[in-house]
Amino acid sequence: MSRPIRATIDLAALRHNFGVARRRVGAGRLWAVVKANAYGHGLERAVAALADLADGFALIETERAIALRQAGLDAPILMLEGFYAAAELPEFIRHRLIPVLHRPDQVRDLLAAGWPADLPVYLKIDSGMHRLGFDAAGLRQAFHALAGRAPAVLMTHFADADGPRGVDWQLERFASMTAGMEAPRSLANSAALLRYSNVADRIGDWARPGIMLYGGSPYPDQTGAAALDLRPVMTLESEILAVQEIAAGESVGYGCSFTAERPLRIGVVACGYADGYPRHAPTGTPALVAGLRTRTLGRVSMDKLCVDLSGLPAKVGAGGTVTLWGRAGDAVLAADEVATAAGTISYELFCALAPRVPVQEIR
Ligand SMILES: Cc1ncc(COP(=O)(O)O)c(C=O)c1O
Repeated sequence: MSRPIRATIDLAALRHNFGVARRRVGAGRLWAVVKANAYGHGLERAVAALADLADGFALIETERAIALRQAGLDAPILMLEGFYAAAELPEFIRHRLIPVLHRPDQVRDLLAAGWPADLPVYLKIDSGMHRLGFDAAGLRQAFHALAGRAPAVLMTHFADADGPRGVDWQLERFASMTAGMEAPRSLANSAALLRYSNVADRIGDWARPGIMLYGGSPYPDQTGAAALDLRPVMTLESEILAVQEIAAGESVGYGCSFTAERPLRIGVVACGYADGYPRHAPTGTPALVAGLRTRTLGRVSMDKLCVDLSGLPAKVGAGGTVTLWGRAGDAVLAADEVATAAGTISYELFCALAPRVPVQEIR
């Protein structure tokens, strides 16, 4: 018998969530963002599941993009961080990878490499996030240098589409930086797509949703995934290895960080931070045991964590199923809830799923 932990990837839920994005994008097109191994869900399986739905796939890992091409994927592929060195350009051309350019020297390298005139190029504009992107002068130069040499798409990324500043301040800068440039625009991430559904000015011609496809809310503090009609794609579940009955005054786990105020029944679960469960999840982080909601107790260790069985039926014991996030029958524990309790976001939980956790798919 292998260790009982497993992740389940629900590909029907992935397709459902993509449908939510489709309904929100209006006349625009959709890149499915599948970087970071499809946010931990498995690149190849996510691409296969969305192949007939997505207008293209966006990622950053060059080798993985090439592998998708070698496996027969014909759909457009957008490389969100572009190429890292000019030496990669022949591969970009051979495999028709669309680069996001963000520096003037990249435009020079690309033109010097004999870029095909029908392969688009994205120009990333720094409209206020101050990560990657051209400033106004650099953009103008790049746009003119590419005229007639490659179709350009004007792109920016929102810093606070999920927060109080919204997107309009960036869109104003974007509009003034791109004034007079006739080209399609790529703007919205999940937050913008959901918040500004079908508002073409804020979404652009090519939206780039990521987290919503995997069933995470981009703003769980305001609206949970279920209310956005998003279904969990990843379920992480394991089993109870042992049951402990502890007396009031006894502590649980490393650091004795939790001390029982009354007698408690505790389940020791085969899941820890080496599986990708967040170590910072405090006592009280929600979990489902046999589909019933309870809480974690004490510190998460490398291979184990503890849950409170006290309020649950007495038959729930060793071998009982514990859902760390995702679906348990009709019950759902949103990864967002676990993430919020642990002071992080569902993106990080999904991406952190450890290679040692076996993955099974359901369709
Ligand atoms: C450039 C770019 N576009 C789109 C996305 C997708 O964002 P989200 O997962 O919030 O939808 C990301 C993710 O970080 C990104 O870096």
